[in-house]
Amino acid sequence: MTEFGPVAWPPAPIGTERLVLRESEARDRAAFIELFASAEVCTYLGGPRPRDELERAVPEIPGRRPGLFVVALDGAMIGTITLLDRRNAERPGHVRPEAGEAELGYMFLPEAWGCGYAAEACAAALDWFADALPGEPVVLCTQTANDRSMRLAAKLGFTEVERFEEWGAEQWFGVWSSVPPFS
Ligand SMILES: CC(C)(COP(=O)(O)OP(=O)(O)OC[C@H]1O[C@@H](n2cnc3c(N)ncnc32)[C@H](O)[C@@H]1OP(=O)(O)O)[C@@H](O)C(=O)NCCC(=O)NCCS
Repeated sequence: MTEFGPVAWPPAPIGTERLVLRESEARDRAAFIELFASAEVCTYLGGPRPRDELERAVPEIPGRRPGLFVVALDGAMIGTITLLDRRNAERPGHVRPEAGEAELGYMFLPEAWGCGYAAEACAAALDWFADALPGEPVVLCTQTANDRSMRLAAKLGFTEVERFEEWGAEQWFGVWSSVPPFS
């Protein structure tokens, strides 16, 4: 159980046309390290972390927490989606500050970009969320300079709430919901 009340975690693996969304496993460790060590992946996420530091810090089974889906292609991890993190009340960007909102995050390995995998996996994760927590909005924050992420947010049906400056860059803050008034 999570702080999102009745949501049971982990759900059974979710299959899409080409992918599986599942809980993380020990065999995903190298891909987790690759994600956080990649300059390309971390360009708009504060920059990459040193590989040797990650080798020491990343646990045997990384990313075991409610809302973190590993996205797998033929069994191998190509990215992660996070969906049950409450947006920090201290940060700018809210649609329901009193309750805290579920925030979507996504990171895919560069070799998996440009294939529609992130869109396919995020759409499945949002479907799962809509069933698990009907009517709960999901928020998303991304740098406006992050073209790929901006295109993905629009494709998924997020709509702009506001833009603001944070960490020296312009941020786009959007919301998605399976029901009105947000969609
Ligand atoms: C943001 C990110 C997930 C987007 O990945 P992506 O692969 O561009 O996103 P999509 O899954 O929507 O794929 C879209 C691309 O696949 C192409 N594509 C190819 N086959 C496709 C198919 N069968 N279906 C759909 N799209 C397909 C589309 O044409 C599009 O290509 P284009 O960008 O060259 O126009 C990825 O760039 C990433 O991990 N970035 C680093 C982490 C990050 O910045 N995260 C943001 C945190 S807020």
